Amino acid sequence: MKRTITKENPYKICFVCLGNICRSPTAEGIFQHLVNKRGLQPYFFVDSAGTSAYHIGEPANSKSQWVANQQGVKLHSKARRFNAADLEEFDLILAMDSENYTNIKRLDRDGLFTEKIKMMREFGPQPDEMDVPDPYYGGMDGFQNVFDVLMRSSVNLLDELEGMIEGEV
Ligand code: 4NP
Repeated sequence: MKRTITKENPYKICFVCLGNICRSPTAEGIFQHLVNKRGLQPYFFVDSAGTSAYHIGEPANSKSQWVANQQGVKLHSKARRFNAADLEEFDLILAMDSENYTNIKRLDRDGLFTEKIKMMREFGPQPDEMDVPDPYYGGMDGFQNVFDVLMRSSVNLLDELEGMIEGEV
């Protein structure tokens, strides 16, 4: 994931979960929100995708949207399926849980992209907790927990990436 980030060569991140309607849209929205707050828009391209086809074309789950909106974060995603071309396209691919990670790695048949596929919680305060829990079948507190986990990891991630930006910001 180490390279110089410039306006000419922005850093591309894809957050990935199963359905692309709860966790990864929330991660995408939070990360873009932090990028905007720091005035770093020209340096990043932020996207999300799901490893399944269950919800293609759908906006983020209404509970995910509600929790995010409470914190001033807008979720603009439209669900799409993660595909092999994304392995080439993005600099960093962040899986929300170990099942997503396994499914992404399965697309990387020759192991060419291992370096850029990581777990989101690697960047959290408790890196031994590997998974962002799937909130889909649970209540609002699960969605709130997902938001909080993703906010902490996203702040750390952006702190790290901001250090790779070249020149004056
Ligand atoms: P996500 O949550 O992976 O965070 O978007 C889920 C969304 C849908 C399903 C499971 C998890 N589903 O089984 O349809």
